Amino acid sequence: MTEFQPRVFSGVQPTGNLHLGNYLGAIVNFVALQESHDCIYCVVDMHAITVWQDPTELSRQIREVTAAFVAAGIDPVKHVVFNQSQVSAHAELAWIFNCVARIGWMNRMTQFKDKAGKDKENASLGLLAYPSLMAADILAYKATHVPVGEDQKQHLELTRDIAQKFNNDYAASIAAHGYGDAYFPLTEPLITGPATRIMSLRDGTKKMSKSDPSDYSRINLTDDADAIAQKIRKAKTDADALPSETEGLKGRPEADNLVGIYAALAGISKQQVLDQFGGQQFSAFKPALADLAVQKLGPIGAEMRRLMADPGHIDQILANGALRADAIARPILDGVKDVVGFIRRN
Ligand code: TYM
Repeated sequence: MTEFQPRVFSGVQPTGNLHLGNYLGAIVNFVALQESHDCIYCVVDMHAITVWQDPTELSRQIREVTAAFVAAGIDPVKHVVFNQSQVSAHAELAWIFNCVARIGWMNRMTQFKDKAGKDKENASLGLLAYPSLMAADILAYKATHVPVGEDQKQHLELTRDIAQKFNNDYAASIAAHGYGDAYFPLTEPLITGPATRIMSLRDGTKKMSKSDPSDYSRINLTDDADAIAQKIRKAKTDADALPSETEGLKGRPEADNLVGIYAALAGISKQQVLDQFGGQQFSAFKPALADLAVQKLGPIGAEMRRLMADPGHIDQILANGALRADAIARPILDGVKDVVGFIRRN
């Protein structure tokens, strides 16, 4: 079996407010993985335009996600931080994957069905091909591990299907070019921690999302202390006290969600939260949660605002990251072109 060097890749779309779900489901894990892996973190602006984005707002959001990465503790010197559109390998490899993947695979994606809604014929072609570009993001670096929230699981399974089909379809050429029995790794999703799926604060059965019309449904990374406290105070709950065991959270989605958020922010398990708060009412738990959220998120929001005041510096981080990303992806893409049979200049 061909061996692949461990490498982490993940991406975040610059579309609307970054929220607690993005932070706890993904960014916290991005930060932790820096200790043990070479990491590449990408602001996926090409994915963003699969649905309409106002150009001025898009530029601002690209910088804001970059600021969030850095403010949360990602080191853009030791690791690679950049925006997707600056590295053309993503688009080039995505085209090749469009020719490997099947239309039926794309049609089955729940995110496509959700985002396209009833009027599928009128969705952009890019929205349908979205997962193919996502596979290209990951495989342009032969990334072996991808930290994401639960909602990206199906896309990562598709990434494995594309890698597998490419490896099979081109098996003879891959071997003939000296790459052994596989050109691409079968990437592992890393969906870990107590917060892989943070739910809306207004409805414990709906995912916390950038596109929810109610701002009270989510805590934004840029919210100030008052907004954070108010949103937690108004969060939907039931009338019962917190249980002492995690079993007791079953069938209580709002309670389960708030306990999960506390656990993730404190870096402890849900059971440890219940050891502390079991038997107490939400009137006691919510202020403790609000204090913890303000303590953890306040400094990140403040640092984001500080970084956003100097857009030139953020653009420099992105340009530098793009050069380094390009240097990794370019030889990998050249290998793909050779395997496919394209002629290229040296
Ligand atoms: P995006 O921009 O929607 O979300 C960024 C990350 O946040 C996670 N997330 C959540 N986690 C827990 N609870 C929630 N409520 C919640 N909402 C969002 C997402 O799972 C994700 O990890 N398609 C991707 C972006 C992408 C990508 C990639 C990811 C493009 N190329 C390559 C990994 C590898 C997306 O739309 O994420």
